[in-house]
Amino acid sequence: MRFLVPYADLAQEAAANKTLLLSACERVVLSGRYILGVELAAFEKEFAEYCGTRYAVGTSSGTAALLVTLRSFGWPAGTEVITVANSFVATTAAIVLSGAKPVFVDIGVDGNIDPGCIEEAITESTRAILPVHLTGRPAKMGQIVEIARRHHLVVIEDAAQAIGACLDGKRVGGLGDAACFSLNPLKNLHAYGDGGVVTTNDEALYRLLLLQRNHGLIDRERCEFFSLNCRLDELQSAMVRAQLPLVDGWTEARRQAAFRYNELLADFAEVPAEGEGERCVYQTYVIKVDHRDSLQRHLRENGVEALVHYATAIDKQPAASGLVRSGGALSRTRNHVGRILSLPLYPGITLSQQNKVGELVSGFFAKTDFS
Ligand SMILES: Cc1ncc(COP(=O)(O)O)c(C=O)c1O
Repeated sequence: MRFLVPYADLAQEAAANKTLLLSACERVVLSGRYILGVELAAFEKEFAEYCGTRYAVGTSSGTAALLVTLRSFGWPAGTEVITVANSFVATTAAIVLSGAKPVFVDIGVDGNIDPGCIEEAITESTRAILPVHLTGRPAKMGQIVEIARRHHLVVIEDAAQAIGACLDGKRVGGLGDAACFSLNPLKNLHAYGDGGVVTTNDEALYRLLLLQRNHGLIDRERCEFFSLNCRLDELQSAMVRAQLPLVDGWTEARRQAAFRYNELLADFAEVPAEGEGERCVYQTYVIKVDHRDSLQRHLRENGVEALVHYATAIDKQPAASGLVRSGGALSRTRNHVGRILSLPLYPGITLSQQNKVGELVSGFFAKTDFS
């Protein structure tokens, strides 16, 4: 089905940047070097500079970024990591695959981990807090890091959705001990396929991450420990690099589109807000409404591709059975997953497309009999 207002328009974006992208590809293809070469090294340097961190390490996906980071700490079996249940499944999957146990705590009104719920979930086995900057809105890192320092815990940001988001003028990526980004095609800065990156200021962690993503190899002959092959390849590095200078412009376009939606929709839905010191990047534009499923159906039947990120809390997934623990009541999480709806938002969305969405939402609430 072709939508009047698609959720995203990646082909249009690629066409607009065709020359830039193809010349990056040509450079790599003709270089004869496709893995662990100059493009990855340059991308890592430039990405770290962008985030204001000392180091960045490219990986094959955001999931791989989380996994190699978690594995680098070498925690014993039974270790617990505190996180949220309203993220993409990869956040929890990485914790489980690293050998640790995810412990879910509730979210605040911002949709991110509620710092007030963290301390009661900490046990002797807790080693880390893993907040997610969901939708591109930064979590309350000041309070999270303060709790972590008091309890000697590591803080790993899941910044998969949040490149360029700021808290008190500082970009996410350097707000904890390490941060993990996704370069999936739907992310604000993306590869043409899968990709990811970890940022950190910790030199020892950085050196371990370089091994973790490359078989544990120190050099061609010496393997320090068995690990994965999850490197970011040269083609993807070159294409992502080419777009990095554009990301702030795209973010600004996303923000303007989000503010336009807020004006159109505030009378009908709970629209996203920005707390003090927060600068959000709207990787998803998420409203909260009653009758969410009916509204989603109405929008889709009328040519608007609205999605839900994510309709099932992770502790309710079949995969989670026996592997996770609740660190308290998750009542706000339950309420959140039942009411959220992601509307189409991308840098090239037009005013008339947004007006169309606004008309359909207002028409739905004016005409539908909810009794
Ligand atoms: C919050 C969050 N964490 C982790 C990931 C995993 O990233 P990737 O798809 O690049 O493996 C995603 C991607 O959708 C995500 O949104």
